[in-house]
Amino acid sequence: MKHILAIETSCDETSVAVIDMDGNVIKERTFSQIEIHKQYGGVVPEVASRSHVVQIQFLLKEISNDFDKTSLVAVAATGGPGLIGGLMVGVMVAKGISFAMGIPFIAVNHLEGHLLSPKIERKDFSYPFVSALMSGGHCQVVLAREFGNYEIIGKTVDDSVGEAFDKIARVLGFDYPGGKYIEQCAKAGDKDKYKFTVPMNETGNCNMSFSGLKTAAINVIKGIGELSEQDKADVSASLQNIIVKTLLIKLNNSITYAKSVMPEVKNLSICGGVASNLEIRSAINDLCQKHGMNMFIPSLRYCTDNASMIAVVALEYYKRELYTEDDFEPVSRWPVDNIKIN
Ligand code: KG4
Ligand code: ZN
Repeated sequence: MKHILAIETSCDETSVAVIDMDGNVIKERTFSQIEIHKQYGGVVPEVASRSHVVQIQFLLKEISNDFDKTSLVAVAATGGPGLIGGLMVGVMVAKGISFAMGIPFIAVNHLEGHLLSPKIERKDFSYPFVSALMSGGHCQVVLAREFGNYEIIGKTVDDSVGEAFDKIARVLGFDYPGGKYIEQCAKAGDKDKYKFTVPMNETGNCNMSFSGLKTAAINVIKGIGELSEQDKADVSASLQNIIVKTLLIKLNNSITYAKSVMPEVKNLSICGGVASNLEIRSAINDLCQKHGMNMFIPSLRYCTDNASMIAVVALEYYKRELYTEDDFEPVSRWPVDNIKIN
């Protein structure tokens, strides 16, 4: 039996996973640093790097009982994009294992990991597909034509959708990261109470903007003054409603574009932390049905950062004998439409 070990340390999750050659994840262990960063209201890069240094050791020891170390044929780590200190930790641990065991090292693009994350659970997920990648750090719609060939159809021109959730959640008094609290709170709210507008709403435009929405929401909150629980619920519901509307319009435009250049596109996926929002999931599911597309959404645990998605990509590289050179350096910016760096 052959296995690949993968490491993810690009932001605030330390994660390790082992995958077999058929693409089955044998084991994954993830440590979330959210409790550590909560007190600062966001991820503090140096604190994150230090935590990765400690946790990676524990996690590797934990999973090492689940496979025979001599079965490893490659070791992968997220090489970017992300916080450079965290990336350094994962890449150096992987390079060390690669040297010690005499197996190739594979640097994986984190965004390609998110794009292929549906594959962890669904073997029928295949190219070509359209994917909406919506996390705290990233917000883009991608047309994935084939392995390694990705076109960014639309992206945010300012804040990511996750950032919009988080920044407004903070003003509402919720903990970081606030997206899930807004979703919970919105359940008791009136989604039509506050009128927000869809930004960049010209016909056919696939790009997004969320900073204006953030300002509009903050103005509404300040205008209310002392917030009751009902006020919080109404703001949350109205905000979530406009975000769902925005994503639907943008994805509708994106699907139309993707089908015009690649009529055989039948699969659509959503990934990244924001994809765990049930309102967003259900609205996009309806959109897929309207377009006759198959919808793929990873389970909640695979929407957020994890090493299983890095392992899935690493396996594709391994099969093609695409190994990373020794002089690879982690990169904080690494666009998914220009993946090949060595
Ligand atoms: O992919 P992720 O875990 O980390 C990054 O790579 O950024 O995404 C985190 C983002 C945060 O902005 C968080 O507020 C948002 O995903 N998020 C949600 C929900 N759960 C997480 N946003 C809306 N609704 C949710 N249920
Ligand atoms: Zn991510």
